[in-house]
Amino acid sequence: MSYRIETLITRDELAEGIKRVADEINRDYKGRSVHLICIIKGGVFFMTELSKYLDMDVTMDFMAVSSYGSDTVSSGVVKIIKDLDEPIEGRDVIIVEDIIDTGYTMEYLMELLRDRKPASLKLCAMLDKPSRRVTDIKPDYLGFTIEDKFVVGFGLDYDQKYRNLNYIGAVIFDE
Ligand code: IMP
Ligand code: MG
Repeated sequence: MSYRIETLITRDELAEGIKRVADEINRDYKGRSVHLICIIKGGVFFMTELSKYLDMDVTMDFMAVSSYGSDTVSSGVVKIIKDLDEPIEGRDVIIVEDIIDTGYTMEYLMELLRDRKPASLKLCAMLDKPSRRVTDIKPDYLGFTIEDKFVVGFGLDYDQKYRNLNYIGAVIFDE
């Protein structure tokens, strides 16, 4: 199927949104330290950019969960591909994710991480597609709410491509 990519959020808008999210976290966690859990691969660009603007002590870990493969719809099946390197018990944890769609992935992950007894657990997402939600998941920190479009760039892929784009684009499939 042929398609093109249309700009949805420009590089400048994205930078501004990420700084705004960092300001909120700086305000809420003043005087504490945060442990960021980046969901790879998609969350990497967002986490590195976001963390540059955080002014408290920041530690990081990475986790990989199964995603869509080359398809564009969620299966509801979530699998851990890479677990955390360190325990999170007693720490103030923020999950950093690229996008919340159905919410299946985060529902599963937040429950799993809550069982490991962090002092607190919050969810920070770069993008949210609330119209697609089938769970009760809501990000505590959010960059942008978007319409029901398949998007790429700044970590997000279509068939593993376009993660390196410095903006968010919508994939428009030709009829
Ligand atoms: P959920 O479990 O349905 O909320 O799906 C979340 C995961 O699906 C995200 O972490 C992404 O990896 C992937 N995903 C959802 N929507 C998009 C999109 O528009 N573009 C690229 N990946 C997406
Ligand atoms: Mg993801």
